[in-house]
Amino acid sequence: MNNSGDPKAALLTPCLCLDIEMLEANIQKMEAFLGQGPVKLRPHSKTHKCPTIAWMQLRAGAIGITCAKLSEAEVMAQAGIRDILIANQIIDRVKIARLANLAAYTDVMVAVDTLENARDLAQAAQQTQATIRVLIEVEVGMGRCGVIPGEPALALARELSRLPGLHLEGLMGYEGHAVMIPDRLERIRAAHTAMSILVGTRDLLVANGIPVAIVSGGGSGTFDITGVFPGMTEIQAGSYATMDAKYRSVGLNFGCALSVLAKVIARRDDDVAIIDAGMKAMTSEFGMPVVIQPRGWELERLAEEHGFLRRVGGSSLAVGDMVELIPSHGCTTINLHDRYYVLRQGRLEAIWPIAARGCVQ
Ligand SMILES: Cc1ncc(COP(=O)(O)O)c(C=O)c1O
Repeated sequence: MNNSGDPKAALLTPCLCLDIEMLEANIQKMEAFLGQGPVKLRPHSKTHKCPTIAWMQLRAGAIGITCAKLSEAEVMAQAGIRDILIANQIIDRVKIARLANLAAYTDVMVAVDTLENARDLAQAAQQTQATIRVLIEVEVGMGRCGVIPGEPALALARELSRLPGLHLEGLMGYEGHAVMIPDRLERIRAAHTAMSILVGTRDLLVANGIPVAIVSGGGSGTFDITGVFPGMTEIQAGSYATMDAKYRSVGLNFGCALSVLAKVIARRDDDVAIIDAGMKAMTSEFGMPVVIQPRGWELERLAEEHGFLRRVGGSSLAVGDMVELIPSHGCTTINLHDRYYVLRQGRLEAIWPIAARGCVQ
């Protein structure tokens, strides 16, 4: 076990580290940007999966949080968080009943894109004597979930607003196909097209007498595009808080608070070293994690429990040497770990449970 005050070099590996000052700076930076305008922040907690970080974001000015799954929302609610958007469809009867229970003691909202699902939600809400708040999800070009914009969305909104037990709060549309476009101008163009679809649908609903209080969308790669788009009211960015190498590679101006610490456990020769962190500690769907310490080494491949490092100009490594890497994708890497080792100025300050880790239901 590690104790608070331990230096980074004494941490048992592999472990997931969080630089608290960097995390705080990222949270402040996002709030400083959005705090100036009418669009508010409802950060996505599917990235950090940690109620402590969610509370830091709320204390800094976020109006609520976003979750991907019901079980994630339940963890956040247990931590005392009330205003929660589940930015996904909940379609199973058992989960809908749980959602209705959650709605009885929180202000949970859920995304809906079919009338059938809305009817099931309404029935469960009535049985629990709760009101479930809903956002109609509009497909804005990502090709994932969401009702077709324009008339089909209006038809759904008309029917849905008549259902007892539901309260239609507004619309959401996620421009996930835009958030990681490396070219800034292209990213702006893609996000603007997506948000024009979403806000255009809002205008149609409003013109037909349906109030739309919330228009929600946006990720870390588009927070400063979607976050100033007229008609938007909320941004769902999540990765900005911890960051990762993928978002860094597209030029996002937040610091990498997250890293994985590993140790060299074997050497093949001067050019190849084996570390104790493999694909059970780091994911690679967005490319290999990036070695930041020591310099001159690259992660070539991941096996289940091992990582294969190759020398690209650095000094040779010895068994026992520490290696620090930035995950290529924070969301899926964090989900592999039980806890963050929270460091301030290179010393262990706290260990935070990643309480919603594995909450995929
Ligand atoms: C619905 C939704 N909103 C927002 C986000 C934003 O996440 P990020 O901050 O990682 O761009 C995501 C990411 O997948 C998402 O699925």
